Amino acid sequence: MSGDKDRVARWYHQSNRLVNKAFIAIRGCFEGIWLGVLSHEQAARIDEVYYDRNAMYVTESYNRGGLFPWEQAAIDAHFDGVRRIVVTSAGGGREVLALDKAGYEVVGFEPHRDLVRFGNSLLAADGISAEIRPSERDRWPADAVDADGVIVGWGGYMLISGRGRRVAFLQEAAKRLPAHAPVLVSFHPRERDENVRFRIITRIANPLRRLLRHDPVVFGDALAPSLVHFFTKAELESEMSEAGFELVDFGTDGYGWAVARCVAGQSIQRKEWT
Ligand SMILES: C[S@@+](CC[C@H](N)C(=O)[O-])C[C@H]1O[C@@H](n2cnc3c(N)ncnc32)[C@H](O)[C@@H]1O
Repeated sequence: MSGDKDRVARWYHQSNRLVNKAFIAIRGCFEGIWLGVLSHEQAARIDEVYYDRNAMYVTESYNRGGLFPWEQAAIDAHFDGVRRIVVTSAGGGREVLALDKAGYEVVGFEPHRDLVRFGNSLLAADGISAEIRPSERDRWPADAVDADGVIVGWGGYMLISGRGRRVAFLQEAAKRLPAHAPVLVSFHPRERDENVRFRIITRIANPLRRLLRHDPVVFGDALAPSLVHFFTKAELESEMSEAGFELVDFGTDGYGWAVARCVAGQSIQRKEWT
């Protein structure tokens, strides 16, 4: 009898593993096909429509909810002495509102026009002079002001598509920052057990992209649900270093986050804070 029970338990666990693998493979095929055909502009539009439909980012309760515990901990540990912060990918103002209330001078930048409008109405309702300015996606904001620290708003760094654009974004940030200024970025960390999904994605997407003459996707690119890059620590460190930053802290507790410091001598064209 106990042999029968063991056999059933073994079958159950084997079939459970198979079904889990099948889900990962189906997900990888789905993302691979879509990533194979999407242009850069179409991927950007998919992201925009996601935020059109996601009501949470235009609610007072969410945006008044304050910093996440990992954000607060990273700022407490690395933003000592910082007074002026630029927040990119600021959304409806969650970080801008919290940082202003904590006594920082803040300017936010955000590519989604409805989020800019919502965030500014929330700031105005509280009589806060900080503002969220419209910016181009994937790029360091053209009218970004001089600051002592940068926060790339929640998940914003992984949403900048392609290593080249991310490095260029950080290089532009470095030009506006004094030596040792901190930058906080956040992202989905890439776990080893997800390698199958990412392998399927690149194997399906890249032949299609070659046919369509689009730039290839790289291992770690995925649709979740917008086009994002899932990072390893080594990848992040390498992008930071190429852009003139030194990675000083990295965590995956709650979310993937990292703090880097601007290496001395980057600052070449500082603009006054207005
Ligand atoms: C997860 S939301 C976070 C918003 C806000 N920081 C918060 O925590 O509530 C990510 C934000 O990044 C913006 N975003 C999406 N793609 C971007 C891109 N390619 N470049 C810059 N920002 C982008 C979105 O419009 C959205 O506001």
